[in-house]
Amino acid sequence: MALLDIKGIDVSYGKSLTVKNCSIALDPAKICSVVGESGSGKTTVIRAVLGLLPGGGSVTAGDIVYENRSLLKLSKGEWRSLRGRDISMIFQDSGAMMNQTRLIGKSFVEYIRTHESISKQDAWKKGAEMLGRMRLPDPDRIMNSYPFQLSGGMRQRVGIAMGMTYQPRLLLADEPTSALDVTTQAQIVRQMMELRDEYGTSIIIVTHDIGVAAYMADHVVVMKDGRIEDQGERGYILNDSTNAYTRKLIKAVPSLGGKRYV
Ligand SMILES: Nc1ncnc2c1ncn2[C@@H]1O[C@H](COP(=O)(O)OP(=O)(O)OP(=O)(O)O)[C@@H](O)[C@H]1O
Ligand SMILES: [Mg+2]
Repeated sequence: MALLDIKGIDVSYGKSLTVKNCSIALDPAKICSVVGESGSGKTTVIRAVLGLLPGGGSVTAGDIVYENRSLLKLSKGEWRSLRGRDISMIFQDSGAMMNQTRLIGKSFVEYIRTHESISKQDAWKKGAEMLGRMRLPDPDRIMNSYPFQLSGGMRQRVGIAMGMTYQPRLLLADEPTSALDVTTQAQIVRQMMELRDEYGTSIIIVTHDIGVAAYMADHVVVMKDGRIEDQGERGYILNDSTNAYTRKLIKAVPSLGGKRYV
């Protein structure tokens, strides 16, 4: 049975209908990539899943079912216990989301203490341990750094570490590697795949890089103008789909057709 079932949702910002009749089903421990050009509605779909549409945005049709529960009907309190624990999100630049004037360790401790009642010392230890698991060298030094003192790749790994603290069953990642150089991007992508293998986390990763999608995804969703243009197993999308838009996206990546994508 699907862990997450997005069932024919429409999403509107005010009067304009932005996402139309979008359906995606995600099984446990699977990775789904959502690709498509800028403005096609990728971010809107994953924000809708997390119940974090910006002001004026709402799901106006369909349903989003997570483990047999409609996410559209959750109360604020129910969201609080689900978000960060069962369902987590990482962004394009986690560093920018952090408070720049606060030590990483302080932000991490605060994050942990909104989700469980433990002492500051224990939260600090837990945070440092998570950084170590993300193979960040010298976790204590990182805990004692400000975001601006770290590289983009390190900040992103800190963001992933935070998102993975409670081993969520579902991780939503919006262009988590777009701001990074190719080598760092490849490391982060591999790390996310390891998280799936280790914890059985299901991942939806939004990327404009169909190469990343081809490398890591089990299932690929192609969006265009707020609609799902095409979707299927990776092999089908890469090799067999005859959809003209899908073929155009794949043709635009010269390295596809080779064996390694990242
Ligand atoms: N807060 C908002 N208010 C009104 N319209 C919005 C808002 N956020 C997004 N939109 C509109 O919704 C459409 C889809 O935007 P969205 O951010 O989901 O696209 P995207 O596929 O994530 O694009 P990108 O690749 O550039 O991140 C766009 O036309 C955008 O202008
Ligand atoms: Mg986006």
